[in-house]
Amino acid sequence: MDQQNKLTLQKLLFAFIITISMTFISCGDNAPQDPSKFSNTKKVVNASGLSDFELENGIGPIKQKIELTTIDPVLVKKGQGIFETKCAACHKLDERYVGPAQRDVFKRRSPEYILNFMLNPEENYKRHPEAKKLLGEYLTQMPNQNLTIDEAKAMLDYFRKIADEK
Ligand code: HEC
Repeated sequence: MDQQNKLTLQKLLFAFIITISMTFISCGDNAPQDPSKFSNTKKVVNASGLSDFELENGIGPIKQKIELTTIDPVLVKKGQGIFETKCAACHKLDERYVGPAQRDVFKRRSPEYILNFMLNPEENYKRHPEAKKLLGEYLTQMPNQNLTIDEAKAMLDYFRKIADEK
């Protein structure tokens, strides 16, 4: 085989490899996806520029629906302690204070929204229509209380418990 032919062969081989890999890449894109796995992150553009999930559940680290199990008394106690030290300065259970009354927060919001708001208030003020509305009403931005996800989940069980008590 002379040099020229060898080069052409090399080019052909190269083109062949590229074609094959492109086919694989696009196959990957078209491969059937489990819709339940992706529906939460699907970007549905609406007026606020948020996905449907974010609109219902707030913006933050919680990106999927969580499963609520039975209320855990240990978490309730932990949540109550956090409420008294970090939240009671601004929130009461049954009346408006610096922030809204918290006993009925579950009536207003999904559990995921409550978690995302507690964990990431700043971004929700900037981008979420409900948080903006609330800010307009209370005129005070809730400072980030730097809760861990576990602490926020304890707060959630505390909120669920007090909602049941009335
Ligand atoms: C410095 C005052 C302040 C502190 C401390 C504070 N909050 Fe808030 N919080 C607010 C205000 C004001 C709002 C409502 C108005 C707004 O969002 O601007 C609010 C809103 C909320 C909301 C959203 C309620 C809704 O209906 O959407 C949740 C949930 C919440 N706070 C939980 C907490 C928790 C839990 C803590 C303690 C870990 C806490 N807050 C500490 C001032 C505070």
